[in-house]
Amino acid sequence: MKRLDQVLASDGTSAELELVIKDVMVACKDIAYKLGQGDLAGILGTTEDENVQGETQKMLDVISNDLLKDILCANPYVKGVGSEEEDFTIAANNDGKYLVTFDPLDGSSNIDVNLSVGTIFSILEAPADNRPGSEQEVFLQDGRKQVAAGYVLYGPSSLLVMTTGNGVNLFTLDTNIGEFVLTKAQLQVPEDTAEFAINMSNQRFWEPEMKQYIDDCLKGEEGPLGKRYNMRWVASMVAEVHRILIRGGIFMYPYDSRDPSKAGKLRLMYEGNPMSMIIEQAGGASSTGRMDIMDVEPKGIHDRVPVVLGSKNEVAKVVAYHSK
Ligand code: AHG
Ligand code: MN
Ligand code: MN
Repeated sequence: MKRLDQVLASDGTSAELELVIKDVMVACKDIAYKLGQGDLAGILGTTEDENVQGETQKMLDVISNDLLKDILCANPYVKGVGSEEEDFTIAANNDGKYLVTFDPLDGSSNIDVNLSVGTIFSILEAPADNRPGSEQEVFLQDGRKQVAAGYVLYGPSSLLVMTTGNGVNLFTLDTNIGEFVLTKAQLQVPEDTAEFAINMSNQRFWEPEMKQYIDDCLKGEEGPLGKRYNMRWVASMVAEVHRILIRGGIFMYPYDSRDPSKAGKLRLMYEGNPMSMIIEQAGGASSTGRMDIMDVEPKGIHDRVPVVLGSKNEVAKVVAYHSK
């Protein structure tokens, strides 16, 4: 079986990018180990702090963020990092070629109940020209410019799913040797599905188009979509996207009017974009409902975006509801 470094060496990934990805994985292996220790290591529970998005930080949000930030800022090929848990982007090494954004721990409401969580990362190239502009501005590139994207799912086993633009590979952490090894190459999302994932408790806050689509799903065989749908909601985007990659499905976190000033709950640069690159590279689709997520121009590192992604033909149906 091939290790992650062997796969990257054979698929044309530059040595510099490989070193950045490997450092992300060093941090993720440490996070996997700490999650495995759980209460034994005294790392569960909540801090007294909030992040820039007004969310209470779990202890592991902070620990995971520090692990990723520290290792990446010491990497000579990293120019800067941006994180869900940091108000602003952080300059690392001026000559670095890559910018890394990450959600250190996704689905963190699941930590204290011992359910699946993940880490999401996205890698961009730093603009080559030394245009004047703040560190923040160099990050503001659309998702099509990503050179790599991935997630680590900490579940019964720890898995890495990633792409460098040549399809999507799945690696399993072999804890005996401390390495991610390739266990499935070139994942493909099934084109059709009858399984949706959405937080139904927000239904009354959705736009009419999304309400109508879900109403029609619930009508089953008798309704206009003509299928009996199943539903899943783990409240961990990484786990949700992974299920979709393996057996198909559609994941939605649409705009809702709970806080009309926010475009959605999920963040474009370290949730929407990397997951969209993975899903598209595996033959699925990803949209806000009105445009491709990776075409959205970011205005800030913590911008939010409505997310509809998964099996291609089902995403097309949701997009059609929005263009009626
Ligand atoms: P995070 O833990 O990084 O803040 O992200 C949680 C996200 C995502 O993983 C999940 O799909 C969604 O929030 C769950 O939201 P609800 O609690 O509204 O279901
Ligand atoms: Mn998240
Ligand atoms: Mn998070």
